Amino acid sequence: MKKTQFDFDTLIDRTQTQSDKWAKYPEHVIPMWVADMDFDSPECIKSALNKRIDQGVFGYTHASKSLNSAILNHLECRYHWSISPTAIFHLPGLVCALHMAVRAFSNENDGIIVPGPVYYHLNRAPKLSQRQLITVDMTIQQDRWIPDFNQLEKACAQANAKMILLCNPHNPGGTVYTREELAQVHALAKKYDLLVVSDEIHCDLIFDDLQHIPFASLNEDAANRTITLMAPSKTFNLAGLGYAFAVIENAKLRQTFNNAKSGLIPYPNMLGLVAASAAYQEGQQWHQALLSYLTKNRNFLQQWLEKTPFSIQKLEATYLAWIDVSALDIDNPHHFFLEAGVGVSDGKEFGNSSFIRLNFGCPMRQLEQAIERLEVALKKNNIL
Ligand SMILES: Cc1ncc(COP(=O)(O)O)c(C=O)c1O
Repeated sequence: MKKTQFDFDTLIDRTQTQSDKWAKYPEHVIPMWVADMDFDSPECIKSALNKRIDQGVFGYTHASKSLNSAILNHLECRYHWSISPTAIFHLPGLVCALHMAVRAFSNENDGIIVPGPVYYHLNRAPKLSQRQLITVDMTIQQDRWIPDFNQLEKACAQANAKMILLCNPHNPGGTVYTREELAQVHALAKKYDLLVVSDEIHCDLIFDDLQHIPFASLNEDAANRTITLMAPSKTFNLAGLGYAFAVIENAKLRQTFNNAKSGLIPYPNMLGLVAASAAYQEGQQWHQALLSYLTKNRNFLQQWLEKTPFSIQKLEATYLAWIDVSALDIDNPHHFFLEAGVGVSDGKEFGNSSFIRLNFGCPMRQLEQAIERLEVALKKNNIL
C-alpha cells in the first residue's frame, strides 16, 4: 500500500506541554475526551510559525489580506459559498463569539432554541445570560441524529423565541445536515423571524464524500439572518493558538456584533492568524490525508462497537463518537471507562448520561490500546 507522506502514526508525548487533554486524568489513563487531536501539525503551519517567531518582534497585529483571500477561497472551493471580505470577523475563539452573539442579539428572558444533546457551550450561552434555553430533542432517524422538527416548530412558535443555535455538523451526533434538513430549519426561522447562529467549527471534518452546506449559503434570506462561526482549529489541530472567524453578511447584524465585541473581545493572537493563513493556503494535502486516516479510525471503532452491546449512529463528521452505553446499566458509565483506563467525555455534559463521547483523533495504535482496555473491562464484567 502507498505510504502517505504525512505521519499520523507516531505516538507523541504531550504530557509536559500543559495539554488540557493529557493533564485531566491520571497518567495511566488514555485521554480521549476534549476535541483535540494527538497529531503533529502540518509542516506548512510549523514553518510559517517558525518564520514569524524568528522575525522576533511581536507587536499589535492585524489579519493579512492573504488570510482574507485564503478564507474566501476556502469557502468558495469547499462549499461554493461566495461572501464579501467585509463579512468576515477575525476572532480569538469560537466559544466567546457564540456567547457574545447570544448577548448581542437577544434580551433577558428571550427564548434561545437549541437542538440537543449538543456541545455544551450552546446550552451554556443562553443559561449564563439569563435567556430561556428551549431545548429541542435530537432524535434518531434512519440511523442519523436530527432535530425533532415538530418540537422545533413548537419552540419557534413560542412568543419569546428569538434565535436558533445550530451545530452544523452536529457535535456530538456526527450529523452532516442535508440541504433539505437545513431548508426545514430555515423555513421555520423565516416563518417566525428568528436569527440563526450556526456553529460550523467541524465543517471540514466530513467523511464518505458527503458535503457540508453552510446554513447561510442556503439562500439570501438565510444569509441575512445568520451569524456563521467557523475556524481552522479542529481541522488542523490549532486550538491552543486561539483563532476563529465569523461570517455575517447582513450589515445591520454586523454593526450590532461589532459594537458588542468592541473593547471586550481581543483581536486574535498573531500566531493564530499566521497558522490560519498557512492552513488554508497550503494545508489541503495534509487535510485530505487526515480525513483518510480518521475514516480508518472511525471504521475500526465502529466495527468493534458492533461486537459490543453499545451502539452508535452513522458518524458522518467529526472525530468524536457519540456512543450509547446504556447497556452497561450503571449510573456512571464515564466512571466505568475511567476505571478501564480510558478517559472519555461524560455524555451528561452534552445532555445524556447514558452516552459517552470518545475522541478517535489519535494514532491508530492509541485507539487500539483503548479498545483492548475496554474489551478487558467488558469481559471482566460479563458484558462481552
Ligand atoms: C461545536 C464546537 N464549537 C466550538 C468549540 C470550541 O471553539 P474554540 O476553541 O474556538 O472556542 C468546539 C470545541 O470542541 C466545538 O466542538
